[in-house]
Parts: sequence; structure tokens; C-alpha cells
Amino acid sequence: MSSDISNASVPNATDIVAAQYEQWIYPEPIQDLEAYCADGKTDGTAVHENHWMYWPDGWYQDQAKEAIDILVAGCGANAAARYAYKHPKARVVGIDLSSQSLAHEQFLKDKHGLANLTLHQMPIQEIASLGQTFDFIESCGVIHHLAQPEEGLRALKHVLRPHGVIALMLYGQFGRAGIYMLQDLFRRVGVGQTPQDVAFVRSVLQELSPEHLAVPMLKTAQDLQYDAGLVDLLLHPVDQAYTVKGCLDLLESTGFRFRGWVDPYHYYPEGQISEGHPLRELLANHPNEAEVWPLMELFHGRLAMHTFYARHADSPFTDATQVTVDANDPAFWQQVPIRRINRVHHPDWAAGKMPAIQRVPFPPLAMSIEESKVFNEIDGSHTVAAVVEISGVSKEKVHQWLKLLYRMGYLVFQV
Ligand SMILES: C[S@@+](CC[C@H](N)C(=O)[O-])C[C@H]1O[C@@H](n2cnc3c(N)ncnc32)[C@H](O)[C@@H]1O
Repeated sequence: MSSDISNASVPNATDIVAAQYEQWIYPEPIQDLEAYCADGKTDGTAVHENHWMYWPDGWYQDQAKEAIDILVAGCGANAAARYAYKHPKARVVGIDLSSQSLAHEQFLKDKHGLANLTLHQMPIQEIASLGQTFDFIESCGVIHHLAQPEEGLRALKHVLRPHGVIALMLYGQFGRAGIYMLQDLFRRVGVGQTPQDVAFVRSVLQELSPEHLAVPMLKTAQDLQYDAGLVDLLLHPVDQAYTVKGCLDLLESTGFRFRGWVDPYHYYPEGQISEGHPLRELLANHPNEAEVWPLMELFHGRLAMHTFYARHADSPFTDATQVTVDANDPAFWQQVPIRRINRVHHPDWAAGKMPAIQRVPFPPLAMSIEESKVFNEIDGSHTVAAVVEISGVSKEKVHQWLKLLYRMGYLVFQV
């Protein structure tokens, strides 16, 4: 296997984490990207799917023409290669502490001829030493494993271009409460990270009460299907989780401005609380959205991760690309709604089945005739004002419907 991975020194502070990922490569290595992608799998943060959300002014498509510089920070075994494969016009840099993980990235690079991928073994904290800047930075499941997350984020901010976007996934505190109980238990009885320790942990899991707080997560956790995943989930030595407020505070303290949740569905009442319920009315009409998100986090109760994107707090591009769903703001009517769904359910009138739209894995949303009329005019070129005119539906109803779709994550807006 050819190897063009450059090597830089790894500081002591991160050695403990590096040692884990040297021994336990994470995530499970993908053997073939074509087969993986054909299976419908993709990165939740992928630019090709989310660029209107990241750059509502169309910068990615119109100006950059997809030829952007992407950094996958803490890429693990697959993510940088996945990004390079899915974004062939982009130049992708993957960095990680783990030479073993990078060796697998290199395997995927060689196998799929990913000439647009460069790999470096280095800590995020030293990214400036590459002397490169990026349009998009992705760091999923990494920052919460840093001894000082702020330091890592500041380093990433330093290499993000002024119009750039960073997408992050941080662990969610409430959804992982039971996981932290088990981590604490295993730490206190001296469980390490050897194969014997992994076997011991598996045997303990068999003894757990079905009522244990960790069970809902353990039941669905793909991580338990392989040993490195189990180590990552239950035996990680450096692992801290965030509430919604914690995520927002972290961004603010590191010079970023929050721009949105990748899956807004979780953070708004519209998809989760029945229509007409007073709590839904209260939250849906709350004047300050940022106060609704932590409340919905409490209502949801199981959020085990937060995936969101941000921009520089101090860049003029950040304000210039602000989406609005305020009907009183004239800019709202000039925005172009763009669909963000991946399934349309056709009606079966005889069976009383309304048409519905869906963004899998979120549930289908049935549409009334009027709502369908509006939805049919969302073609990526009509402004909201044009949708009103062509559909013949009232301005108020169009606003309500588009706002609901936006909050459920079923559409985005071009500004
Ligand atoms: C949970 S894995 C996530 C991998 C990948 N982002 C993904 O979503 O598949 C965390 C990765 O971050 C890397 N990592 C942890 N701390 C790091 C640091 N300070 N600098 C660079 N990489 C780091 C680890 O080596 C590991 O490969």
C-alpha cells in the first residue's frame, strides 16, 4: 500500500485519546465506498446535500462551483475518504491522531483513486501548522473527546475562511445519561480497554435491568456490534456531553455564531407535539426560538447527540446570509424555498389517504389539498411571494406552512 500520510508530533495532553484510537480503530472500517453509498448511507453533514442550508446565498453552487476546500477534523477510519468520494470537485484534507485510522483512510483513497484527498496525522489543536484554510470544516464526534474543547474549536476557527461553515456533532447530555452511569461504574471498578475488559463489559450488559437508563440507547447503538464501538461508547477516558445551552455557549466562547441544527425536527414542537396542544401553541409561538430549543430538549428527553453548523461571529458574510421566517420581514417573501425531503407519498383518495412528504428518518407529514398546492410550487426557483401568487393560497397560510416545513427540516430557504 502506498502511503503519503505526513506525520507531526502528538502532544502529551491527547496521548491517552490517541492510544485508544490506535488500538481501537473507529468507526468500523468501510471496505468499499461504492457499496456503502449504494446502500443509501451518507454523512448527515454532507455538503452536497446540505449546501443550501450552509450557504443560503448559493455561494457553494454559484461561486465555488463545488470546488471547495474541506477539512475533516478527527476523521477516524472513513469520514475523510467518504467526503472525498462524495465531493469529487472538492479538495479534502483529513486529520486524525490515529495512524491506524489514517491507514484505513489511505486504503480507501488508494482503492477508489481519491486524488482529491490528503491525510495528516496531527492533533486538531495544531491545525494552523498546515498553513491551509478551508471553506467547510466537519468535525463529528471529536470535540467532546478533547481535554479542552474550546482550544480545539479556536484552532479550527483560525483556519476557517471568512465565508466558511463548520459542522459539528457533539454528544447530547440527557440522551447519554445512562451511558455515563455505566462509564463511571466501569471506571470505578478498574475496567481498562483490553479485549478481556471488552468481554467483561459485554457480560455486565447482560445483567442490566431492562429499566436501566442506558437501555434505550444500548438497544439501538450500532457501536455495540463491534468491540471498538463498545470501547468508544462505554470505556472512553475523555468524554463530555453537552446540553443545547452547552453547545451554544461553546460556540459563543470560541467566536462562532450558531446558524442551525442539521436536523431541526428535534428542536421545535411542530413535529413532536400534537396540533392544538397548549404546550405546542406556547412553544411554536414563542418570540425567541433560542429559548425553545432547550425546552424541546427537555421534552424530547433522549437527544444523545447535537449536530449543528456555525459561522464566524465576526464575519460580514454571517449576517448577509441570514434566513428569516418572519412574515413581517419583507425579506421573507423574497426568499426561495427549496425542498429538503427524500420521499413523497402519493395520495390514495379512495382509501382516504392524503399526500404526504417525508425526510427519512423523520415521519411522513400529511398535506391538505391547500398545503399540497403550496408544496407543488416549491421548485427551487419561485420566491415565497410567487408561491402565494401561483398557488392562490393566502399569504398567512403560506407563511404558516413554510415555517412549519422549515422548522421540521423539510425545506430550506435561498436568500
Ligand atoms: C469518535 S471518532 C469519530 C471519527 C469520525 N469523525 C466519524 O464521525 O466517523 C473520534 C476521532 O477523533 C480523533 N481525535 C480525537 N481527538 C483528536 C484530536 N485532538 N486531534 C485530532 N483527532 C482527534 C480520534 O483519533 C478518532 O479517530
